[in-house]
Amino acid sequence: MTTGEHDRPTLTTRQGHPVSDNQNQRTVGARGPATLENYHFLEKISHFDRERIPERVVHARGVTTYGYFEAYGKLGDEPISRFTRAKLFQEAGKRTDVAVRFSTVIGGRDSAETARDPRGFAVKFYTEDGNWDLVGNNLGVFFIRDAIKFPDVIHALKPDPVTFRQEPARIFDFMSQTPESMHMLVNLFSPRGIPATYRFMQGFGVNTYKWVNDRNETVLVKYHWMPKQGVRSLTVEDAAAIQANDLGHATKDLMEAIDRGEYPEWELLVQVMSDDEHDELDFDPLDDTKVWPENDFPPRPVGRLVLNRNVSNNFAENEQISFGTGVLVDGLDFSDDKMLVGRTFSYSDTQRYRVGPNYLQLPVNQAKNADVRTNQRDGMMAYHVDGAGENPHVNYEPSITGGLREAPSPGEEVGPVITGRLTRRRIPRTNDYKQAGQRYLLMHQWERDDLVQNFVTLISECARPVQERMVWHFLLAEDELGLRVGQGLGITPADVAHLDPLPGQVLTDEDRQRLSRLG
Ligand code: HEM
Repeated sequence: MTTGEHDRPTLTTRQGHPVSDNQNQRTVGARGPATLENYHFLEKISHFDRERIPERVVHARGVTTYGYFEAYGKLGDEPISRFTRAKLFQEAGKRTDVAVRFSTVIGGRDSAETARDPRGFAVKFYTEDGNWDLVGNNLGVFFIRDAIKFPDVIHALKPDPVTFRQEPARIFDFMSQTPESMHMLVNLFSPRGIPATYRFMQGFGVNTYKWVNDRNETVLVKYHWMPKQGVRSLTVEDAAAIQANDLGHATKDLMEAIDRGEYPEWELLVQVMSDDEHDELDFDPLDDTKVWPENDFPPRPVGRLVLNRNVSNNFAENEQISFGTGVLVDGLDFSDDKMLVGRTFSYSDTQRYRVGPNYLQLPVNQAKNADVRTNQRDGMMAYHVDGAGENPHVNYEPSITGGLREAPSPGEEVGPVITGRLTRRRIPRTNDYKQAGQRYLLMHQWERDDLVQNFVTLISECARPVQERMVWHFLLAEDELGLRVGQGLGITPADVAHLDPLPGQVLTDEDRQRLSRLG
C-alpha cells in the first residue's frame, strides 16, 4: 500500500519551517536575479557543500553490520576465568552487542573491493563495562613491526603522488628495504590476498594483547576469527571479471546475505602464552610480523560472532564508526608490542580530526551498554552533556559539593617490572625470513604458482636493483620461492650473491647458511 500524497510528512528546513517550494529559488521576477535572504536555498546548498568528511586515511572503503558475540564461558576446556576476568567472556551463552566493519585498506571510499589488499576486520563490542574494539585484519601478520614506519609503508602502497596510480615500483622499492615485510608479502600476493567476499575470510587481532584475571595475573594473547562459511579467494581473472561490473561486490554480498536471513558467523579462538619474553622461541612474541606456531600455542575457542542486521544509514553508521586499539575493558590489556602502542595513539587522533572531537557521542560509537559519565564538555558539535553528577555546576573532580568521583581502584598495576635504557633499536630476534618460507611451503602447488606469478608480474615493473634485492630476500625465505621468482625475472642466485645484508639487518644462522650457498 502506498501512502497517499496528502498523508506524507511535509518538508521543512532544519529550523522547522515548512518548505512550500523546493523547486525554485527566490528571484526578482521569473528570470532572476536571485535574492540573498533565501534561507531555504542557502541552507540546502551550504549543507550539501559540507556533506563529506575526510575519508579514513586507510581503510576508507568498508561496510558495517551489527550482531552479537556469544561467549562459551571457557577457553577450550578450561574455565576462562583462569585467564581473564573480562565480563563478556565469563558465562556460557552470554550475548554482547557488536558492530563489525570490514574494509579494504589502500583504495579510496569508492574504490574496488576486488583489490589485492589486506582486509580490515574491526569489531566493536558494546559491553556492560564499556566498549571493547578488536581492530584486526584477515592475514594475521603485518608489513612492519614498529609504528614509526606506518606512514612510509602506507605512502608506498598508496597511489604515486605524481601519477596517482598505485605503482608496483614504489611498493617493492620500499619492501625491498624492509625485510620484515616478507611474511606479509607472501600472504598478500598469494590467493589469500583477494578474499572472495568478507563472509569468506578469516580475521586476526594481529597484535599481541594481554588478558588479566582476578588475581591480576597476566598472559599474552592473540585473537583469531574463523568463518563458519569457510575461506574462499578470487583469482586475478575472477577479480577482474567482477570488477568490470561491480566495484562493491563484497558489501553487496554481505548486506544481501543478511537481508536473506543467512547470517554469517565466525568463531573466536585465542592463543595464550605466558607473559614473558620467551627466549626459547626464535621470534619475539610481541612482533606482529610473526604468527605463533599452532602446535605449541593451540588456538582455543572462546565464543562466536553472528551478524544479523544491516545499517540503516551508511554515513552515520559506517563512515562515522570509529574503532581504536586503545579501547579495552577490564580484564584485557595492552602488551608492549611497538605497533600496538603506536596504533593506540593514531586511531583516536585521526578520529578527532576526521569525525570531530565529540565523535564518541555519536550513537554508533557510544558505549551504549555502559554508563558514560565524564567531565569532558563542549567542543564542536557537542550533542549532549555526558552524564553529569547530581550537581550540574560541578564539571571538575575532586569536589566536596557533588560531581563525579573516582571509581574504586582495580588494585595494583599488573605486568612485569621493566627496566632499560631509553634507546631507538630494533628488537633482537627479528628472524625476518623463516615464517615467510614456512608459509610458502604450507601452500598447495596452485597457490605457490599463483604467488610466484603475481610477484613476477609486478616486480618486473621495478628497477633492476629492486628486483635483485627482492630475489635475494625470497632466496633467504625459501630456495624454491627465490629460484622461481628469480627465473621469472631472469635473475640467478649468483646474480645476487654480491649483495650485503641491509644496514642494521640481523641475520639468523640459518639465513647466513642460505647466503653462503648463493654464490
Ligand atoms: C584504520 C592507523 C596498523 C587495522 C586505521 C586508521 C588509521 C590507522 C589512522 C583510520 C581510522 C579511522 O579513520 O577511523 C594505523 C597505524 C598502524 C596501523 C598507525 C601501525 C602503527 C594496523 C594493523 C592492523 C590495522 C597492524 C591490523 C591488525 C586497521 C583496521 C582499520 C584501520 C581494520 C579500519 C577500522 C574501521 O573499519 O574503521 N588504522 N593502523 N591497522 N586499521 Fe590501522
